[in-house]
Amino acid sequence: MGQRWPPVVLAVLLITIILLGRAKHPHPLPEPQLGRARLWADSDSCADCHFEQTEFFLQTGHARTLQSASDPESLRLLKEFRQVASEKDEALTIDIDQQEIVVSSTVGSSIRDLELDWCFGSGTHARTWVGTLPDSWGERDLIEFRWSWYHETDDFDITPGQSLQKGTGYFAALGTLFDTPKARRCFSCHSTVLPQNEGRTDFQELHSGVTCQRCHGPRQAHVESEGEIQEGFWAAASQLESIQRCGECHRIAEDQKPEEITPGNPDIVRFQPVGLVQSPCFKNSPQLTCVTCHNPHQPLSMQNSSGIWQCVQCHDPQQDHHVLCSAGHRDNCLECHMPKVQVFENIQFTDHWIRMPDFSSETVN
Ligand code: HEC
Ligand code: HEC
Ligand code: HEC
Ligand code: HEC
Ligand code: HEC
Ligand code: HEC
Ligand code: HEC
Repeated sequence: MGQRWPPVVLAVLLITIILLGRAKHPHPLPEPQLGRARLWADSDSCADCHFEQTEFFLQTGHARTLQSASDPESLRLLKEFRQVASEKDEALTIDIDQQEIVVSSTVGSSIRDLELDWCFGSGTHARTWVGTLPDSWGERDLIEFRWSWYHETDDFDITPGQSLQKGTGYFAALGTLFDTPKARRCFSCHSTVLPQNEGRTDFQELHSGVTCQRCHGPRQAHVESEGEIQEGFWAAASQLESIQRCGECHRIAEDQKPEEITPGNPDIVRFQPVGLVQSPCFKNSPQLTCVTCHNPHQPLSMQNSSGIWQCVQCHDPQQDHHVLCSAGHRDNCLECHMPKVQVFENIQFTDHWIRMPDFSSETVN
């Protein structure tokens, strides 16, 4: 009889986990892994009817965040890196031909090769290459290359999170190994459709980048009905739901240890939703979401980010409930209230915990 307990306990645990998960975030984005290809519309079709949303969309970081390593911009950088690689690491060489890009590292008397097949990051901040390898179940693990390119310095340096010293594992001289579930998570946040074929990720059919249907769900029925069938998925979202959907990739407060949620902590500055929901602006205005300040259909570079219009939407002296800056400033709001913070050596993020500046703290500059 004792043997019957574990499955029951497991089932109860599983149900509890599912229920808790739902309570935390009731209407998440649809998962990108559907094998049912017929649900997904051709992504070019949206442009036929939605000019405003598609006109500049391909320039967004979202659209460009994952590319094949052989795409022109990735290839150009890898060719640049090939010239300087041996200065950075004597044991490293890069071979590029029509078919493949192979990095090699000499370890003792043997050579370790890794074929790079994907390039993560639009280049707004950085680009990181990865190679995928079959594991013993035929799924694919991922090696994240040790070297990344950084926009801020226009140079190559160690990938964020990787050790400055080479490790000793088989591929450690080339990068860090992520097992299949972790590798899947990388692709899930950086792509739109991640199909499964007999339980395995089908990389041939992957739709890279965070594009329309990653945020709006599969839309074949919508396209076939010429827009008759609508989801209204975002219009129906509550304030917190809306922020948490962006937070599925940009992270949410519940993912962090409570003691880490302190003003100016660079480890949370990278996760914009975490800071934003601590702000008095969020707590006191039921309409504030990420799209109050960001148009997800246009690149950040096209949105005037001097930071006045974002703020005076609400901090308008004409409205009686909150005033413009009590320190008397009429400009450069972000400099003091949403400063840039150096999160990694070569990457800055904007602190979304909007608050009174504390000039005694080092994080305000
Ligand atoms: C044949 C025309 C047509 C095509 C193609 C089309 N739509 Fe639409 N869509 C409409 C119409 C009409 C509406 C309702 C009016 C509006 O909001 O513009 C609409 C509304 C929407 C809305 C807001 C309402 C809702 O359902 O959430 C979204 C989001 C949307 N479309 C996404 C897409 C995406 C993504 C694609 C491409 C996969 C697409 N549409 C392709 C016609 C089209
Ligand atoms: C499926 C994952 C995912 C979702 C959902 C998502 N993002 Fe992103 N977002 C990313 C990734 C990945 C990047 C990095 C793009 C790059 O490589 O530069 C990014 C970048 C951005 C940027 C910088 C854009 C630029 O052009 O440089 C903004 C702003 C942003 N996201 C806002 C949002 C908002 C607002 C939402 C919700 C409406 C949202 N994101 C939902 C994954 C996501
Ligand atoms: C939970 C979702 C999520 C996962 C998992 C994820 N990323 Fe990202 N990634 C993002 C978001 C959001 C951004 C944009 C802002 C940021 O850097 O946090 C981003 C940005 C990046 C960038 C651009 C540099 C930058 O900081 O803007 C690179 C390169 C990148 N990710 C690579 C990876 C790789 C490789 C993996 C797996 C090892 C991975 N990501 C896993 C969500 C994710
Ligand atoms: C990062 C997530 C994200 C991506 C990617 C995205 N959208 Fe949206 N979209 C939103 C959100 C959030 C709203 C709701 C905006 C609001 O409430 O102001 C929205 C609203 C819309 C609407 C309703 C009209 C409007 O502008 O408010 C349409 C139509 C639409 N999107 C189409 C598209 C199409 C077409 C694409 C691809 C070219 C696309 N979206 C890509 C998040 C996204
Ligand atoms: C009050 C306005 C405001 C709100 C609300 C807001 N942002 Fe931002 N965000 C900004 C500004 C301003 C920048 C800096 C723009 C620039 O550098 O051009 C920025 C930059 C970003 C970036 C680029 C990386 C960085 O940190 O500099 C991402 C990603 C981003 N926001 C995501 C989000 C997400 C996700 C939400 C919702 C949780 C959100 N933002 C809500 C104003 C806002
Ligand atoms: C959607 C509306 C909205 C937007 C957009 C907004 N705020 Fe607020 N903000 C508020 C509300 C509401 C409060 C609370 C004020 C009150 O209690 O009277 C607040 C409070 C503040 C405070 C006081 C913080 C404290 O610790 O007491 C500062 C500083 C502030 N906002 C700056 C900004 C700046 C700078 C921007 C632009 C980057 C901005 N806000 C954007 C609504 C908003
Ligand atoms: C040079 C730094 C600086 C700039 C630039 C700046 N602020 Fe402030 N702001 C402050 C300081 C300091 C305080 C706190 C003053 C005090 O103690 O009353 C403050 C207070 C505020 C408050 C709180 C008001 C209250 O009493 O609740 C708001 C809202 C605010 N600022 C909005 C803005 C907006 C909007 C802009 C851009 C138009 C802006 N600030 C530009 C430094 C700045």
